[in-house]
Amino acid sequence: MTANLFDPLPLRETTLPNRVMVSPMCQYSCESGDGVATDWHYVHLGSRAIGGAGIVMTEATAVEPRGRITPQDLGIWDTEHADALAPIASFVREQGSVPGIQLAHAGRKASKRRPWDGSTPLSPDNGGWEVLAPSSDPWPYEDDAPPTRAMNQDDIETVIGAFENAAQNALAAGFEIAEVHAAHGYLLHEFLSPVTNQRTDDYGGSFQNRTRLLREVVSAVRSVWPDDQPVFVRISATDWLPDRDAWTVEESIRLADQLATNGVDLIDVSGGGIHPGQQLPDTGPGYQTTYAQRIGAETTEDIRVGAVGGITTPEHADAVVRTEQADLAVVGREHLRDPQFTLTAASELGAEEITPPPQYYRAYPGIAPE
Ligand code: FNR
Repeated sequence: MTANLFDPLPLRETTLPNRVMVSPMCQYSCESGDGVATDWHYVHLGSRAIGGAGIVMTEATAVEPRGRITPQDLGIWDTEHADALAPIASFVREQGSVPGIQLAHAGRKASKRRPWDGSTPLSPDNGGWEVLAPSSDPWPYEDDAPPTRAMNQDDIETVIGAFENAAQNALAAGFEIAEVHAAHGYLLHEFLSPVTNQRTDDYGGSFQNRTRLLREVVSAVRSVWPDDQPVFVRISATDWLPDRDAWTVEESIRLADQLATNGVDLIDVSGGGIHPGQQLPDTGPGYQTTYAQRIGAETTEDIRVGAVGGITTPEHADAVVRTEQADLAVVGREHLRDPQFTLTAASELGAEEITPPPQYYRAYPGIAPE
């Protein structure tokens, strides 16, 4: 029998109460610029746990200061970050959701202003910093890109160590799922893609070499993450650059098989972000779901997939799971519009498996206990 949106999903010893995940979404709300979570993060993530999502995933949380997209990004490089995130993870868990954290390094897309301040690059003399990348080509901003350093072997080891340290802090904070961010043109994706990786050492050239850093990062995270708890990886299944040598869905399928043998439980399948010249075929409903479906169907190892992108209605989210396009419906912007997307879905689809918090019973007579 196939699963529906409201069926639990066991992953190692963690059981997701349903198949909805709050997609990681940067809030750029660490006003003091130190990466420490604020009341905003508590209320924002906490509300979505009240709303019934199976997983509440944090935004991209930087493993080191240079890995922040903006100075206001959340961080997890220090124990003070874990201390501030611990009550949030605990509240999420108390609501019955599983708390997840996305571990991230922004690579050459780091050091810029937040979107509502223009997303323009920040130079080191203006509050920004030197950014790291596989090669020295900067992100093609029109002007003022921060200095971009091609990483040497020491830098590579520092970054791997930063992911491991971040995973340790995340575990201490009480997160149950660690998601490694290897999508959207950030550092780990920059190593995967021949568009941004021109290295001639062990980390560039062949598929095996371009995927090496991600595999080493995953192994470092796995070495500290408990065996009975899941690790996810978010990838861009394609660079959407059909006219040049770029990352493809076929390589994503190969990568997913490799990651499965490195202890990854689920691939969270997104797309694009490596270059401003990308050509998106479509941004309508479920615009990336076919990639998740292909990866799920064509991998030979045992690995689950999540689909993200343009899933906005209960019927669509349910259909993604029921028709086996993906094991998990990952919902981003609709969760900004409706923090209670899962309760809305349960109510609309008449799913009695989902119980609202008692404080909200009167708003959901169809699914609240008599
Ligand atoms: C995002 N997205 C994103 N992705 C990610 O992997 N880490 C992140 O921190 C962020 N940050 C972020 C902030 C905001 C405000 C938005 C809208 C998006 C991408 C997001 O997780 C998702 O993949 C896309 O929005 C597509 O899914 P939806 O929104 O169509 O459901």
